[in-house]
Amino acid sequence: MYNITIIAGARPNFMKIAPIIHAIQNAKDEGFSIDFRLVHTGQHYDKNMSGSFFEQLEIPEPHVNLECSGGTHAQQTANIMVAFEQDLMDHPADLVLVVGDVTSTMACALVAQKLHTKVAHVEGGIRSDDWTMPEEINRLVTDSITNYFFTTSETANKNLKQSGVHENQIFFVGNTMIDTLLKQRPNFMQPAIWFEIGLSKRSYIVMTLHRPANVDEETQLKDMIDEIISHTQDLPLVFPVHPRTAKILERLNISHPRLHTVAPLSYLEFNYLVERAKAVITDSGGITEEASVMRVPCLTLRDNTERPETIDLGTNELVGTNPKNIQPFLDKLFANQWKKGQDIPLWDGKTALRIVDSLKGVLSKG
Ligand code: UD1
Repeated sequence: MYNITIIAGARPNFMKIAPIIHAIQNAKDEGFSIDFRLVHTGQHYDKNMSGSFFEQLEIPEPHVNLECSGGTHAQQTANIMVAFEQDLMDHPADLVLVVGDVTSTMACALVAQKLHTKVAHVEGGIRSDDWTMPEEINRLVTDSITNYFFTTSETANKNLKQSGVHENQIFFVGNTMIDTLLKQRPNFMQPAIWFEIGLSKRSYIVMTLHRPANVDEETQLKDMIDEIISHTQDLPLVFPVHPRTAKILERLNISHPRLHTVAPLSYLEFNYLVERAKAVITDSGGITEEASVMRVPCLTLRDNTERPETIDLGTNELVGTNPKNIQPFLDKLFANQWKKGQDIPLWDGKTALRIVDSLKGVLSKG
């Protein structure tokens, strides 16, 4: 029996692990001798940042929740490492599978490799080259001790090869986040806000902001929101607010009749809104991928991206973090001159199947 330990900690991990777990369950039903242990580090703990994703995406109850939430980056990393080290010693695995770029990803990869357990990294190889982003540090550390890389793009393959990773460690499989999106698209659910403020298709904008560079400094956040309000004509702005952003927004006390802040939405509700929006304004990485696949214009309020394919092929544009950059992009949107986007290679809903097929190969070889 091959045992795989799967790590999930924060909101953007959950949609990435769901299809992998389902593909492992199928492989098991078909007689392959494989089992998994799901470890939730507890980095995100609210129902609307974690629990609702488990329910909607049919992710089984984690085998353990390490309850390592809060604290500074060092405290969170250390707490997760201490707790996961004990868990992995108690439940040895043939392979630890981590996804994405959050603190839990890096902390658990470190623990696994130090206990001589092979590490697989789903979404390996992407780089923003911006070392001020905690996620970039997490990617660099994780990839430097990963054995098997499951990649989303040719750019990721190139980055890995350039950093000395051997070709036979790289599996170009596509994007598990898109597996979930395509599977769940028929199940998207209208959120309450739709009725409450009378939204209709293509006549509102969705925005999300949570990156430290945008939300940890009051003037930056205020200037951005003001600029967005000024150049979005009469469209309602629906803003599901991340807990990190909520703390600052409270102090800023911004209000405008077209700005509708709501608590973080569930996966099915959030993507219902994105699918029908005129555009999304965000500083998230994952949302640029989802918007691209749904062909919804996406304005990214960052100076760089680790996902260049969402710009080259998708509907994403890099606006930057200077609030003054926003207007020309919004003008282009309202002039209906936004690019339409095209298919992105292997983002086809079958990535998790390819991952599990590759895992069968590497596990059998020992
Ligand atoms: C983390 C990830 C980021 C990801 C984001 C998505 C890292 C370094 N960053 O950032 O890559 O895009 O998640 O959400 O791992 N909080 C709550 N309830 C929760 C979760 C968090 O109130 O369920 C609070 C925390 O207590 C903390 C703040 O939100 O005060 C930030 O949480 P944290 O997990 O440190 O990082 P995120 O900013 O969410």
